[in-house]
Amino acid sequence: MDRYAVIGHPVAHSKSPRMHAQFARQTGQALSYDAVEVEPEVLPAALQALHEQGYRGLNVTLPHKVAVMALCESISARAQIAGAVNTLIRTEHGWRGDNTDGEGFIRDLHRLGFGVTGRRVLVLGAGGAVRGILEPLLRARPATLVVSNRNPWKPEALAEQFRDIGPITPRTHLSLKGDRYDLIVNGTSAGHGGEMIALPGQLLAEGGDCYDLSYGKAFLPFRAWAESQSAARIADGLGMLVEQGAAAFELWRGVRPDTAAVIEMLRAG
Ligand SMILES: NC(=O)c1ccc[n+]([C@@H]2O[C@H](COP(=O)([O-])OP(=O)(O)OC[C@H]3O[C@@H](n4cnc5c(N)ncnc54)[C@H](OP(=O)(O)O)[C@@H]3O)[C@@H](O)[C@H]2O)c1
Repeated sequence: MDRYAVIGHPVAHSKSPRMHAQFARQTGQALSYDAVEVEPEVLPAALQALHEQGYRGLNVTLPHKVAVMALCESISARAQIAGAVNTLIRTEHGWRGDNTDGEGFIRDLHRLGFGVTGRRVLVLGAGGAVRGILEPLLRARPATLVVSNRNPWKPEALAEQFRDIGPITPRTHLSLKGDRYDLIVNGTSAGHGGEMIALPGQLLAEGGDCYDLSYGKAFLPFRAWAESQSAARIADGLGMLVEQGAAAFELWRGVRPDTAAVIEMLRAG
C-alpha cells in the first residue's frame, strides 16, 4: 500500500490523517497516511529515513515549512514565491517541494463565493501564511491589495518581493483609518492568544466579506470583530486547510477529492 504522512513538531493535533483517510475512501485509493513527529534538529535525517521507508509523499507543517526547502531536490515556482514548502513529492533520489496553501486559500474563497476581482482587499498580517496567499490573490486582480502589519517593515518587504506579479500597498494597522474594503482577510496569529489586533473604526464596506486563515478557537476574536463590522459573510480557514490538503492529494494521486464533504466532517468534530 502506498504510504504518505504529515511531518511536524508537534503533529499529534494534525487533522491531516483524518482528512486524507477520507479523501482516500472517497476516491477509492488504497493508501496509508501517518502523522510523524519530527524535531527540527533531525529533519534532514528524517526526510532521508522516510524516503528509504518508501513514503511517496509528505505534508509539511510547522515548524518545518521553510527549513525543508534547503533539503529538496527541486522546488516548484509557486513554493519559491511563497518562500515555504507544505507538500513533498517523492523523486527517485529525494523530494520535490511544492506549496498548495495559496491554491487552497483561493479555492476556498471560490467555494464560498467571496470575490476578489475588482474588489478592495485588505490582508492583516505579513507572516509566512500571508506570503503564501499573495501570489494567487494578485493574480485574481483585486482593485487594490493592501497588506497591513504591526511591524511595518514586513509589508514593505512583501511589496518589493511581489512587485513583478502585482502592486501591494504596505501599511500599518492604525494608518488604515478612514479606508473601506470589500474583503478583509485576517492572516495574523493573534487569535491563538485569544486576541483581535487593534484596528481603527469601520473598515469593511457595506456588503463586504471577512475571511480568517485561522480556525477553531483562534477564529473567535476575528469573528466577533467581523460581526461588529456588519460583515455580509464571515468564514474561517478550515476550508483552506482542506483545500490545500486536497491539492496535495491531487498532486500525489492524480484525482481530486470532494472537499465540501470533508470540511463538513471536520467541522462536526
Ligand atoms: N487555514 C490554513 O490552512 C492555514 C495555513 C497556514 C496558517 N494558518 C493560520 O494563519 C495564521 C498566521 O500564521 P503564520 O504562519 O503566518 O504566522 P507567523 O509567520 O508567525 O506570522 C504571524 C503574523 O501575525 C501577527 N501578529 C501575531 N500576534 C499579533 C498581535 N498580538 N498583534 C498584532 N499582530 C500580531 C504578526 O505580526 P508581526 O510581524 O508584527 O509580529 C505576523 O504578521 C495562524 O493563525 C495560522 O494558524 C492557517
